[in-house]
Amino acid sequence: MSSKKILLGIGGSIAAYKSANLVRIFKKQGISVRCVLTKSAEEFITAQTLQALSGEPVRRNLFDQQAEAAMSHIELARWADCLIIAPTTANLAAKFASGIADDLISTLYLAANDIPVILAPAMNSKMLLHPATQENFRKLQQRGHYILESASGELACGENAIGRMQEPEKIAQKAFEVLGISQPLTPPSPKPLTVTITVGATRENIDPVRFISNRSSGKMGFALARAALKRGLKVNLIKAYCEQIPPENCQIFPSETAEKMLDTALNIANDTDIFIATAAVADYRPKKVLSQKHKKERDGALHLELIENPDIVATVAQLPADKRPKLVVGFAAETENLKNYAQEKLAKKNLDFICANDVSQFPFGGELNEISVISKNDEKNFNAATKTDIAEKIIDYLLSKIN
Ligand code: PMT
Repeated sequence: MSSKKILLGIGGSIAAYKSANLVRIFKKQGISVRCVLTKSAEEFITAQTLQALSGEPVRRNLFDQQAEAAMSHIELARWADCLIIAPTTANLAAKFASGIADDLISTLYLAANDIPVILAPAMNSKMLLHPATQENFRKLQQRGHYILESASGELACGENAIGRMQEPEKIAQKAFEVLGISQPLTPPSPKPLTVTITVGATRENIDPVRFISNRSSGKMGFALARAALKRGLKVNLIKAYCEQIPPENCQIFPSETAEKMLDTALNIANDTDIFIATAAVADYRPKKVLSQKHKKERDGALHLELIENPDIVATVAQLPADKRPKLVVGFAAETENLKNYAQEKLAKKNLDFICANDVSQFPFGGELNEISVISKNDEKNFNAATKTDIAEKIIDYLLSKIN
């Protein structure tokens, strides 16, 4: 394993999400990575994600007294064997070229003037090809910096042109070369982690027009999907009925009933790293599904015989080790005895984690949630917040447990 140290500066571009994978590749080689975000980079990736992946504090601004007391920016520049800026925006290139130091990254760039610098540009093709930007990159190259050529392809602006940031594997390869790590002990993983999420309310048919279901809206599951996508993960959604529109860029497997959901889950479990079951699955289904609409024949009660549905998350969690996702995570929606019931489900279903949520306070379909993520030896509490905020925290927490 290498004992090298990399300072990774991240600029404000959609490509910032790829930096998460870059950190993973370096960590797999035993390289220490400290990340620095510009203000606009935080629009695309969170400090928590990078902190969870790098295991190091993330720096965000120059005037953070607490962070400066722990390690000043000058010490930070001295600490590193190499400075990588990925993505490098047109603005950062311009500042570096003319020596402007008006934020943490540009100050670090000047302070790190005796170590190799690798720049991975990412921007709209017109901005990249503008004479001003080209001149800036020429200057930076003349200073001996390594500029990774941008790739062509679809850009965030919708154009198909040059300007995409190089893939993390290519950036890492350049860093290995520059740092003299010619033969990484294990090849960097080109595959992003895959998260499979069950979401929504299953519908168990009684006849062609009626079914048994519940009030899950899909909000919690979709919030987790968005948080995972933001971190560069691949997302599969095993989707029952949801009143919400699913996020783009997920692979969707429509699965209306518990049985269909189980089939799909078993088909893709093997290619899943983290399996999260947020779906509200009907525990029972009618024994017989009528092929024609049920007719009311006489007054009085109607008796519907129900049989038990398979337990999807428990079946996935009990797969043999070579087929089982690395982490299997359930949700426990309870109206009383929250933590006890959640712990019982954790053990009974052989889960790694269970997210306990009190649905008497934060009902199905609402915007807010409060979660305790419980494992055999640990408990992490996330106070009441929007499902989006809670989802970000859950994904960061799970990522910190998988590496
Ligand atoms: O969709 P929203 O409106 O945003 O609401 C979110 C939610 C409240 C539905 C979600 O946060 C949640 O708690 N989901 C689990 C709901 C539930 O029914 O839990 P349960 O206690 O019945 O089941 C425990 C776990 O086993 C869950 O992970 C469930 O997906 C899973 N399960 C249950 C039964 C079954 N047959 N198969 C399963 O996989």
